[in-house]
Amino acid sequence: MKSGFSCYDALDSIRSAEHFMLLETQKPTRDTLSEHVLLLREFVRYPFRTAALAPSSRHLAERMASAVPLGSADNVVELGPGTGALTSALLPRLHEQARFMAVELNPVFAERWRSQFPGQVLEVGSVANLRQLCGRQNMSSIDCIVSGLPWPTFPVSLQEAALEEVLSLLKPGGQMVTFGYHLGMLLPSGRHFFRLINRRFRRVERLAWEWRNLPPAYVLRCTR
Ligand SMILES: C[S@@+](CC[C@H](N)C(=O)[O-])C[C@H]1O[C@@H](n2cnc3c(N)ncnc32)[C@H](O)[C@@H]1O
Repeated sequence: MKSGFSCYDALDSIRSAEHFMLLETQKPTRDTLSEHVLLLREFVRYPFRTAALAPSSRHLAERMASAVPLGSADNVVELGPGTGALTSALLPRLHEQARFMAVELNPVFAERWRSQFPGQVLEVGSVANLRQLCGRQNMSSIDCIVSGLPWPTFPVSLQEAALEEVLSLLKPGGQMVTFGYHLGMLLPSGRHFFRLINRRFRRVERLAWEWRNLPPAYVLRCTR
């Protein structure tokens, strides 16, 4: 007889929920099962900075990628790519001369990401040092930032420091797109993040919810 609720049970639940939400109507091209296992494992190790039990669905990834004008962007940065769920939707939209780099804090995710996207650039480090990390790749004037960061679970000091870095790199008119979950909006630090972006960006738009994600997520587009 089974005793307790193991990681495997949790994984099974995630996968059944995905089926229920019709997340697998297309054959996955990536090894999504091992991505789930890896993300879940890193969530257990670092719950606040991973802040997700499963990688973003391809529906959310498509919604994020289509929220910003990637096709005309020369410099694009992805923050917190994790196992690469969003990256897969971003790269095909970039023009041939576009420059792309990702910044990931967790070296375990970084290693996995690099094996998934050979030839693409990823710097290991914190978004709090974004200018320095972009400087290493001679990237300074960014058109689009696609963020998978768990902003609401960041301490307020990190939210503020990271947002300063983002704003100093984005071109005037440049955009950052990010996503969040309902729970994050209820946290005091989540509410602080909303106030902060509303104060610091020229325009903040909350786009439609993506229900075909675990959990459902909203997308925010912030224009400098
Ligand atoms: C919610 S997961 C999103 C993963 C992936 N983008 C997705 O949508 O499936 C958050 C990611 O942000 C990364 N992260 C957290 N804090 C960070 C920081 N200060 N700098 C850079 N990346 C960070 C985590 O390691 C993790 O990969």
